[in-house]
Amino acid sequence: MWEYTDKVRDLFLHPKNVGEVENPDAVGEVGSIVCGDALRLTLKVDKETGKIVDAKFQTFGCASAIASSSALTELLKGKTLEEAEKITNQDIADFLGGLPKEKMHCSVMGQEALATAIASYRGQPKPAETGERVVCKCFDVTEEKIRRVAIENHLTTVEEITDFTKAGGGCGTCIPDIEAILKDLWALKEVPKPKEHKKLTNLQKIALIQDVLEREVRPKLQADGGDLELLDVEGSKVIIALRAMCVSCPMGGVTVQSIEQKLKELVSEDIMVEAR
Ligand code: FES
Repeated sequence: MWEYTDKVRDLFLHPKNVGEVENPDAVGEVGSIVCGDALRLTLKVDKETGKIVDAKFQTFGCASAIASSSALTELLKGKTLEEAEKITNQDIADFLGGLPKEKMHCSVMGQEALATAIASYRGQPKPAETGERVVCKCFDVTEEKIRRVAIENHLTTVEEITDFTKAGGGCGTCIPDIEAILKDLWALKEVPKPKEHKKLTNLQKIALIQDVLEREVRPKLQADGGDLELLDVEGSKVIIALRAMCVSCPMGGVTVQSIEQKLKELVSEDIMVEAR
């Protein structure tokens, strides 16, 4: 079960701007139902001002695909095309208060639909029609897309590429190819530091802590017969209780330290973990 923010849940249950703009000036279609996600974005552009006056979407996909598409249309309205083309997939994810990393490909799909729509408005070829080499045949992902998404989001591992593009998430045949692209991409350059995390609200911080504990920590403890429970979060203090085999484990202190380290790495540097 994915941990979604309230904004994702809200836009999934009550999506805005669903449908098709009448006589659209720009259309962006990406993905395919065969690959599991598809999005059609239609825009109405005021010729005088160059501003997007209406934006609607139709999508086939999961909760985060619907929420990401709805978020995109909200971000677009009132922007000029020049402003709109600066929107990144991270902006879409930020608008939603974040997405599970395995669902970041939904925000990438939104950004691609936008780029395709803008290209259609300007009479340019679709970005996907430029004859790029397809690396992942399962999900129809090109080398250009892997490179672009890796650079824009500072991705360095195949797992991250799969989260953001789905490439490598099927039969796995393309994984050596993806590894080679990443090696080539970052070999000569120092990997840039990711953007500073935006300051989290308390609710976002608690949701992120729960997410990290559920996905990164508990499965490892459970594999050894242990477990934990999140009791409370007081500012930067995360209060947990070790459960099952962890209660009597002589290495309990080390376990708590490693949980703290993981939360520092993935949530915030100032996290302290206390076990009760
Ligand atoms: S070719 Fe990429 S996962 Fe199958």
